[in-house]
Amino acid sequence: MNKAERFLAACRRQPVDRTPVWMMRQAGRYLPEYRAIRARHGFLEMCRTPELAVEVTLQPLRRFDLDAAIVFADILLPLPAMGLDLAFEKGDGPAIRNPVRTAADVDRLRPVDPTEAIPYVLEALRTVRRELDGKAALIGFAGAPFTLASYIIEGGASRHYEHTKAMMVADPAAWHRLAEKLADVCAEVLGAQIAAGAQAVQLFDSWVGCLSRADYAEFVRPHVERVFARLDTSAAHIHFANGASHMLAEVRAAGGDVIAVDWRLGLDEAWSIVGHDRAVQGNLDPVLLLAPQDRLEERIADVLRRAGGRDGHIFNLGHGVLPMTTPENVGFAVERVHALSRRTAVADAGDAT
Ligand code: CP3
Repeated sequence: MNKAERFLAACRRQPVDRTPVWMMRQAGRYLPEYRAIRARHGFLEMCRTPELAVEVTLQPLRRFDLDAAIVFADILLPLPAMGLDLAFEKGDGPAIRNPVRTAADVDRLRPVDPTEAIPYVLEALRTVRRELDGKAALIGFAGAPFTLASYIIEGGASRHYEHTKAMMVADPAAWHRLAEKLADVCAEVLGAQIAAGAQAVQLFDSWVGCLSRADYAEFVRPHVERVFARLDTSAAHIHFANGASHMLAEVRAAGGDVIAVDWRLGLDEAWSIVGHDRAVQGNLDPVLLLAPQDRLEERIADVLRRAGGRDGHIFNLGHGVLPMTTPENVGFAVERVHALSRRTAVADAGDAT
């Protein structure tokens, strides 16, 4: 079975010859070849130039035996088309210079046509899909309504999400209108990415873990359900809610063929809450990639042991690769996942055909 087949079979909870593996932020600053391009180009410029985005998407696949590629882009790229002024300031991360704070601000936000808003992402997907040619699966992505709203309302990264939570409480109607608009953006963007060749799409709810379970159920879940309900089922749907161990049953109910989990619960416990009728993705703590290789291997083996050889596990980190990680340890981890998870029966069956 080729790598794309291995990854997609695991998304569908079908047997695989070994556990497929990819890593969130597998393209990025920990790779010297990424830094070499980044030294000459701005981050947004890289995203908006398909030749550069394609090159950076493929960099980790040239080094490592990864089963999937994730297109090099960002969850915030569709925002300018809504009327938001997005910038990446050196060292400070993303900024929205005209944040949304009132109902009138929400009403001013425009719907997004992905072919106009992010044509360069769609072009990068088409090119990468052609170049991969089954050698790895291709993943597209979008930010989930809550995570996008947190950037739009706070104006950038946040510690306490005070303006976002304040809008939910003080003006729930405005919050729901905003989240609905963002759910439409997610569905449009992911739909266009699937049409451009993405074989799986991941919805990133990176900061939703700051909410209580009750607030998630009331203010977030209906909007995430709306995204997944609108997506073409020819692609696999991956739902990543970071820091959400306290509400995994709600996250599962919101949708996704694959529930991606962080490292805060053991994979066995997380999977039993999610339910074995869904696939899971995860969940090595990214900090373990900074540890000595014998410790790293022990923890990889522990994640695989907790997955229990059950169909429907995709190995990943609980969050993104940290910039100080060495490429050597990423390569070691990918090789160990495949070696430690080899299934003789499926491998032999595959070899025989
Ligand atoms: O390899 C991949 O995973 C694909 C590329 C990818 C990027 N951003 C590239 C990037 C993906 C999937 C994202 C998603 C993204 N972007 C998320 C969700 C994932 C997560 O980490 O939870 C979020 C919250 C963002 C918003 C964002 N973009 C932030 C907060 C930052 C600054 C923080 C940082 O890491 O510097 C970015 C910039 C960014 N996006 C970089 C990369 C490689 C670093 C840019 C640089 O080179 O300076």
